[in-house]
Amino acid sequence: MKLTSRRMIVGTVGTVAVCLLAVAFASGQAAQQPRPQMAEEVFKNVQILKGIPVDEFMDTMGMFAAALSLNCIDCHTPESSGSWEKFGDDTPLKRTARRMMLMVSTINRDNFAGVRNVSCYTCHRGDLRPKIVPNLALQYSVPVEDANEVEIVPISGGPSVDQILDKYVQALGGTQRLANFTSFTGKGTYIGFDTEQTKVPVEVFAKAPAQRTTIVRPRIGDSVRVYDGRAAWVAGSDKPVPLLSLTGGNLDGAKIDAALSFPTQARIKQLFAQWRVGATSIDDREVRVIQGTNPRQPPVNFYFDENTGLLVRTLRFVDTPVGRVPTQTDYSDYRDVSGIKIPFKWTATWTDGQATTELSEAQVNVPVDAARFARPAPARPR
Ligand code: HEC
Ligand code: HEC
Repeated sequence: MKLTSRRMIVGTVGTVAVCLLAVAFASGQAAQQPRPQMAEEVFKNVQILKGIPVDEFMDTMGMFAAALSLNCIDCHTPESSGSWEKFGDDTPLKRTARRMMLMVSTINRDNFAGVRNVSCYTCHRGDLRPKIVPNLALQYSVPVEDANEVEIVPISGGPSVDQILDKYVQALGGTQRLANFTSFTGKGTYIGFDTEQTKVPVEVFAKAPAQRTTIVRPRIGDSVRVYDGRAAWVAGSDKPVPLLSLTGGNLDGAKIDAALSFPTQARIKQLFAQWRVGATSIDDREVRVIQGTNPRQPPVNFYFDENTGLLVRTLRFVDTPVGRVPTQTDYSDYRDVSGIKIPFKWTATWTDGQATTELSEAQVNVPVDAARFARPAPARPR
């Protein structure tokens, strides 16, 4: 993966005109939540990817970049690194990509009853030109196990989901302490594509059962990510819109991150209707995997170190019109804060970039102002 690519997004000028006041209200449920903006309402030259929210549209671009190992500007133009507007200009690769989207949806419709079994990655696998001839070196090499591709098959005699979660809760400080764990604040540093690979200050606020806010503070202006217990937003000047609503798998991810801030057995169990167990290894460490699924949603994997019982990774997915893209979060450096173990370091990796947060201090059970979890003010365009 060429991660430098995503720095393109960073240098952009937020010139996309959006009228936040004009957002309609979703009918029925969640009446106070403004409807997320659709791609074609924000961008000026969307011909195929219409009717999907902006966050899903950007995840689709992430699939393109990942499937073909391209930088954003390879399909767009060098000028687009300085302006969101310029992403609207057409190029030969963009036109081919449009054609490919239609081809993929035809393949899935005609052969798989519309299920998105074939994605851009199915053929391209990181190459601009998919291979035609089988690769003998690959065929005769020893396969390497990827923990993210573990097949979850029931292991006879292994621990159950409840036993794995029990061990986790014990490792963190025990049922009693976690039941009384109601708030959390932390400070440290953040480094990622959106800060042009420089370390900048970060603050984290969380409140049980499930609210979480992260504020990244680069010099060019704060980037605020909020899950208020029901809805999630990101306000950052590196985003294509001043206030990005998270939807679908991104919203589910924010919910899981918030629930994992205050992990009790019950809170984790209730996230999913169905659970299954598996085993694999990450960096030569044996891990137990539990996989949660809800109807009509992608699964989420939780990886626990078999020795320590601690959570070392989550893997979740977002569905886009051209297939499913992954987000992996790796947790480490668990430290004791007033009797509760908290990961002081975590790295999120997804098709659009990678970012690491490292805390230097953390406090538990301190008052956190409810306003921390309110919908953030739209970011000032850069
Ligand atoms: C494989 C080629 C390809 C790659 C790589 C790619 N895009 Fe795109 N992009 C497209 C296509 C095709 C469209 C038009 C989609 C449509 O018409 O529905 C588009 C549209 C866009 C738009 C909307 C522009 C407008 O005003 O209409 C933005 C913004 C955008 N891309 C950003 C990105 C970013 C950021 C990246 C890197 C993460 C990226 N793209 C990577 C092919 C690509
Ligand atoms: C069924 C297999 C298949 C799938 C699925 C597929 N492609 Fe392709 N793609 C190809 C082939 C084959 C070529 C032609 C390569 C060549 O000309 O040598 C190609 C070419 C391209 C090119 C032009 C490369 C160049 O050098 O000009 C782009 C861009 C592209 N695909 C984007 C996509 C995107 C985006 C998706 C997902 C929406 C996708 N493809 C899905 C098979 C596929």
